[in-house]
Amino acid sequence: MAGRKVRIGVAGLGRLGRRHARNLANSVGGAELAAACSVMPEDLEWARSELGIESLFGDYRAMLEAGGLDAVYLVTSSAFHASQTIEAIRRGLHVFCEKPMGVTVGECREVESAVAERPDLVFFVGFVRRFDPSYAYAKKLVDDGAIGRPFLVRSQTVDLDEYAPFQVKFVPTSGGIFLDMNIHDIDLARWFLGGEVESVFAIGGSYSHPEFDAMGDADNTVALARFAGGQMAVLSASRTAFHGHDTHTEITGSKGIVKIGITPARSRVEILDAGGARVECVKDFYERFSEGFLAEAREFVDCIVEGRKPSVSARDGTKATEVGFALKESFRSKGIVYL
Ligand code: NAI
Repeated sequence: MAGRKVRIGVAGLGRLGRRHARNLANSVGGAELAAACSVMPEDLEWARSELGIESLFGDYRAMLEAGGLDAVYLVTSSAFHASQTIEAIRRGLHVFCEKPMGVTVGECREVESAVAERPDLVFFVGFVRRFDPSYAYAKKLVDDGAIGRPFLVRSQTVDLDEYAPFQVKFVPTSGGIFLDMNIHDIDLARWFLGGEVESVFAIGGSYSHPEFDAMGDADNTVALARFAGGQMAVLSASRTAFHGHDTHTEITGSKGIVKIGITPARSRVEILDAGGARVECVKDFYERFSEGFLAEAREFVDCIVEGRKPSVSARDGTKATEVGFALKESFRSKGIVYL
């Protein structure tokens, strides 16, 4: 890699893929966005006209077979992550894989095996919140003992109701609300509490959009998780908010509490008028986590250039999917699920 940029091919140019592609093309020093792939022709046209990419593919394997890449950035629908990761690793490419790493535990384990066979390659799961400045600072505080021994994480992922129709179409390939949305909260609970989940109990329903119910999914959920070491997590998700993208987390320890982003404010401005006092809220995940998406891309490329392993591993990807799957099972069976 000496003296040249890391040549990356992005797969998936939808809601998030376009953001990642723009970052890789313009804002990640050591990276060159060398190729792009999507099954949607309009996505490829976007990559050509907006980013000037000439090496464009309607088929993922064709992009890999064309050669010339050091790494792939997978932002395709979740159901493809595991197989596309394995295919890239077998061809000797570094892989950034969006969350979830896989939508079944079996395919996650296959990814873990493929990653273990090539310790020379960088494999990175996109748990973006770990790279958000506030979450990263909170983690440092907790690790430095600022709140004593942490024993409870409460974390939620909440999207605006206006995105629900998109989410309905997304469910068949996303793994559903637990694997798509709560996967982040699960990862955070493991990260902050430093252990593994032993049992879960999840409830929920489709309170505004019966289409989710028809697919065995939900628009609002709440789950309890108990860790092997006795720690607790309360994880919730909602697709029906009207104020903004309200993702936040609270960690309680024996000597204090750390709260991250409790009010999803867009800025520090408060508006006080005849209606009272209010703050404007961030609208979507990208507005909230844009710094994290850029920081994780830079870290992925730095790991490749410096021959380092990222702090987030394939094991983290499998463990999060295991818990997400257990939540799904608990929601469907209405019982406690032991991992
Ligand atoms: P999307 O549906 O808007 O875009 C998916 C893209 O993948 C489209 O360009 C589609 O043409 C392409 N695609 C699908 N199957 C393909 C295949 N087999 N080969 C090549 N291209 C293929 O979805 P969105 O919202 O952009 O999500 C993509 C991924 O990013 C999902 O896995 C999702 O979980 C993840 N994501 C992560 C977030 C985070 O907070 N880290 C936030 C939003 C999405």
